Amino acid sequence: GSTLQEAAAQSGRYFGTAIAANRLSDSTYATIANREFNMITAENEMKMDATEPNQNQFNFTNGDRILNWALQNGKQVRGHALAWYSQQPGWMQRMEGSTLRSAMINHVTQVATHYKGKIYAWDVVNEAFADGSSGGRRDSNLERSGSDWIEVAFRTARAADPAAKLCYNDYNIDDWSHAKTQGVYRMVRDFKQRGVPIDCVGLQSHFNPQSPVPGNYQTTIESFAALGVDVQITELDIEGSGSAQAESYRKVTQACLNVARCTGITVWGVRDTDSWRASGTPLLFDGNGNKKAAYTSVLNTLNAA
Ligand code: G3I
Repeated sequence: GSTLQEAAAQSGRYFGTAIAANRLSDSTYATIANREFNMITAENEMKMDATEPNQNQFNFTNGDRILNWALQNGKQVRGHALAWYSQQPGWMQRMEGSTLRSAMINHVTQVATHYKGKIYAWDVVNEAFADGSSGGRRDSNLERSGSDWIEVAFRTARAADPAAKLCYNDYNIDDWSHAKTQGVYRMVRDFKQRGVPIDCVGLQSHFNPQSPVPGNYQTTIESFAALGVDVQITELDIEGSGSAQAESYRKVTQACLNVARCTGITVWGVRDTDSWRASGTPLLFDGNGNKKAAYTSVLNTLNAA
C-alpha cells in the first residue's frame, strides 16, 4: 500500500487520526487526513463539555461535522469519550453523588443514542485509573459517586448503541510492569468474568523520552487480548525526531501487527503543528505536511506484514 490506510488494510487493520473540526477547512490538513487515514476520532468535539454544555441541552454541531466528514469520505469513527473525570462541563463538575450518577447515565444515553449505528467503537470511560504505584482508581467526582460507575457507564452505552464496540481507554498502561496497567487488567478481567459489556481496551500510547515505548509493550497488548477483548492503539504520538523517533514508531507498529486482536492504530493528530504537544514534533507529518522518517517507518512496517 502507498498510504497508511491501504498498508494497514492488508492485514485487516485500520490506521486512524484525531481530527479537529476547525482544521477541516485547511486544505493541506484535509487532503492528508483523507488520503492516509480510514478511522477518525474527534480530538475534542464529542467530549462531555462539548456535547452537553448545559445540563440536558446537547450540542452535536462540531461532533457531527467530524462524523459527517468521515462518513462522506468512507471512513469509520471512534467515539471519544462518553465519561471522563476531565473536560466535564462546569455544571457537571459541581455535581456529586446520585445526582451526578443520573446525569452521567443521561449523558451516556443521549450521546450514544445520537450517534447510534455510526460509531465503530466508543471510549466509554477514559482515564479512570490513578498514576503511581497504587494500581487503583483515580479520585474524581465520578469515582465518589459509587465505585460501580464504570460498569454502569458500559451497560448504559451497550443499551443505547448495541452495535458499537465499547472500550476502556487510558494512558500509561503501555508498560506491563506498571501498577496502573495491572489495575486496568484486573478490571477488564473482572468485567469479562461477570459479563459487564466491554469489547476493547485502548492504549493511548503517548510516548516521550521520559516515557519511551516499553520493551514489554507487545506483552501488554497480548495480555489484554488474551482476556477476550480487542486492543486498539488510540492516541499514538512519540516525542522526538529523525531515526530515533522512526524506530520507536516501528516498534509500536510491529507490536500491534504481532497480535491478532490489535485491530488498529490511531495517531493523535495529522501534522506536528496540529499536536496538543505545543512545542513538540511527535507526529508523522511535519508542519508543512511533508512525510517524516517516522511516516516511512510505519508505512514500511505495515507493508512488510
Ligand atoms: O477551543 C478553545 C478556544 O476557543 C480557546 O480560545 C482556547 C483557550 O484555552 O481553548 C480552546 O480549547 C482547547 C482545546 O484543546 C482545543 O484546542 C482547550 O483549552 C484545551 O484544554 C484542549 O486540549 C485538549 C485536551 O485533550 C484537553 O484535555 C487537546 O486538544 C486534546 O488533544 C487532548 O486530548 C487528550 C485526550 O482527549 C485524552 N488523552 C490525552 C490526550 C492528550 O492530552
